[in-house]
Amino acid sequence: MEILKRVKETKPYIPVVMITAYGTINQAVEALKEGAMDYVVKPFDVEELKIIVSQGLERGKLKQENILLKKQLREKFSFKNIVGNSKEMKEIYSLIEKIAATDSTVLVKGESGTGKELAARAIYLLSHRREKPFVSINCGAVPENLLESELFGHMKGSFTGAVADKKGMFEMAEGGVLFLDEIGEMSALTQVKLLRAFQDKRIRRVGGTEEISVDARIISATNQNLKKKIEEGKFREDLFYRLNVLSLVMPPLRKRKEDLPLLVSHFIKKYCQEMGRKTKRIAPEVMNVLESYPWPGNVRELENVIERIIAIEERGIITKESLPEELLAPHKKPDTTYLFEPGFSLNLHLDDIAKNYIKQARQAAGGKLRETASLLGISYRTLRYLIDKYGLKSNS
Ligand SMILES: Nc1ncnc2c1ncn2[C@@H]1O[C@H](COP(=O)(O)OP(=O)(O)O)[C@@H](O)[C@H]1O
Ligand SMILES: [Mg+2]
Repeated sequence: MEILKRVKETKPYIPVVMITAYGTINQAVEALKEGAMDYVVKPFDVEELKIIVSQGLERGKLKQENILLKKQLREKFSFKNIVGNSKEMKEIYSLIEKIAATDSTVLVKGESGTGKELAARAIYLLSHRREKPFVSINCGAVPENLLESELFGHMKGSFTGAVADKKGMFEMAEGGVLFLDEIGEMSALTQVKLLRAFQDKRIRRVGGTEEISVDARIISATNQNLKKKIEEGKFREDLFYRLNVLSLVMPPLRKRKEDLPLLVSHFIKKYCQEMGRKTKRIAPEVMNVLESYPWPGNVRELENVIERIIAIEERGIITKESLPEELLAPHKKPDTTYLFEPGFSLNLHLDDIAKNYIKQARQAAGGKLRETASLLGISYRTLRYLIDKYGLKSNS
């Protein structure tokens, strides 16, 4: 019975047949309950046993196939929402699979809208934690004084508004994944508390005394350069190393424009379905426009553009006319050449600006010089000097 239990725990697809010389009905029932496929009492017929064994092998094979199919289905499902066939995205998929097989912390980096949260969810769906919760919190969107209680929970009466005991995200994510979005926005104080939670694998609710042990895989995401924040003293280096055991960098859309056609048709389908519209065709000239646009907001921006078009466009085809202004305007850099005509001088330009400010301040102060100086944030002496220098004596 002990061996049966062990086998069922570690290799559940292996069929087990029990053989005993001292069979009782009770034992047989118990063995079947524990997952045995059959129960044979000595003496037995060899031919009969052969049949049982071959049935068992067949069954085991089916079970294994079943497990495999389920796994494939799960993988397909977890990547279902991530669109892209580019080399960059294929690398991301294979990294996600590798990361999902481990239980270390992960830091997902990348510009806003590149699919960081999508990647975090895929890691979770492919991992052994998929049956447990995925709890997500945006550290940048929660007011600093509430973040601690959101993460760790609180006890009734621990602060105004804490009208009942409350579980924090750490406890809610028990056994699953805690996704900390925009981790770069976390205050120094909360960083310390998070670090402590890492070290102790325990947390304490705000206002609580009990230490609660927690087991949640931490996946965090940021669009900031944390290394730089560390140098500026705004992010704890020790916390960074805890969070960044494994890392994943989502590529910006402009670096994988070959994914545009797939993404575009994915979002057209999605929003036409959602809004109950017939699928729209897309004119080739539109793809050209989309491909020459740099997509600073990445996939999120593309998704929003398509959603807007589907909502507004009444024709069955998307043409240049359907596109928002900013996509059509040639993306030239702000035109600054006029500033630098021949003969441009920074000093003269700054003098001009200063003259203008002085005139305006003097007007606002009704011509009173001390007040003018105070408006400009300079001393009376400096103002007198500048008025002299710029020849602004007359009250013009
Ligand atoms: N590769 C992708 N395929 C399909 N949709 C994507 C992809 N990347 C991002 N998205 C979509 O774009 C939006 C922003 O993604 P999100 O994961 O929130 O980005 P981030 O967290 O990096 O800002 C979401 O609606 C997401 O579904
Ligand atoms: Mg996000």
